[in-house]
Amino acid sequence: MSVADLPKVELHLHHEGAAPPAFIRQLAAEKKADISKVFNDQGGYAFNDFVHFLSVYEAATSVLKTPEDYARLTTAVLEESAANGVVYSETFISPDFCGGGDVSAWREYLHAIQEAADAAEKAHGIILRGVVTCVRHFGPEKAKASALCAAETAGDWITGFGMGGDEGQGHQGDFAYAYDMTREAGLKLTTHAGEFGGPESVREAIRDLNVERIGHGVRSIEDAGLVQELVDRQITLEVCPGSNVVLGLYPNIAAHPIQRLRDAGVRVTVSTDDPPFFGTTMRREYDMLNQAFGWDADDFAALNKTAAEAAFCDEDTRARILQKLETA
Ligand code: HPA
Ligand code: ZN
Repeated sequence: MSVADLPKVELHLHHEGAAPPAFIRQLAAEKKADISKVFNDQGGYAFNDFVHFLSVYEAATSVLKTPEDYARLTTAVLEESAANGVVYSETFISPDFCGGGDVSAWREYLHAIQEAADAAEKAHGIILRGVVTCVRHFGPEKAKASALCAAETAGDWITGFGMGGDEGQGHQGDFAYAYDMTREAGLKLTTHAGEFGGPESVREAIRDLNVERIGHGVRSIEDAGLVQELVDRQITLEVCPGSNVVLGLYPNIAAHPIQRLRDAGVRVTVSTDDPPFFGTTMRREYDMLNQAFGWDADDFAALNKTAAEAAFCDEDTRARILQKLETA
């Protein structure tokens, strides 16, 4: 058996970023929208760097207009995740794209997404939970509207709040109001940091937003004191090695710090981020880590246990995830 066949927990996946290009192309054709600039000659997504990626992402997302579109997206994404052996997935969903930050519109999108997720769980056994995300380059005011949507729908299914977008814009602390509101509503917290921002962005995330997980966080490796702080505070990193290589943080997987972070005792997990954009899948991530670092089935079992422990779900769901990992 190959390590790629193992059951997997994925904690860092952007819902629209997981859309297969053929799916987006089909929606664009149905809506007669010209988004040809989004695609390269091979039919994949085309971008040059991170900021360009974000604009291509938003252009692709522009054809997702209705709750029904998001239901279809959810079905497509979960079929792909299940085919990759993912048994539990947390997906980032933005009210900015689902109803423009209006709470009642957001509820309709969420309802459609949850219905599709329930059907996928019945069909494939995969469990999905949602983490509401604000978009950093849309600014703190839009983030407050997203936080309100998250707080109003917090519960068994919306389990967390996070922030994506351009790490180059503003500071983590600019979003403290949104994080305070969602923490108060009982949501678990994460934010993108330490990807394009250096170690100081991770320090800000811990100090100013008090998160328990960090999206990426890999550049913490540049600061030994910070690495120790991650260990002491038991903060989990949502590491996306393939994404980091494609976006140019590291030349290849062998140069990626995930092994060094793990050796230092940091709680690391593995995810795909935006898989079709970055030419990856969960199976491929596992194969790459196996080839670069020799990680075997025991290493991946420990990795998935860490991910299950760091999942934002309730304890009953966590027990079901652990059972799926064990019986597979
Ligand atoms: N990083 C940051 N923000 C994002 C991403 C990502 O990979 N995808 C969508 N928004
Ligand atoms: Zn991300």
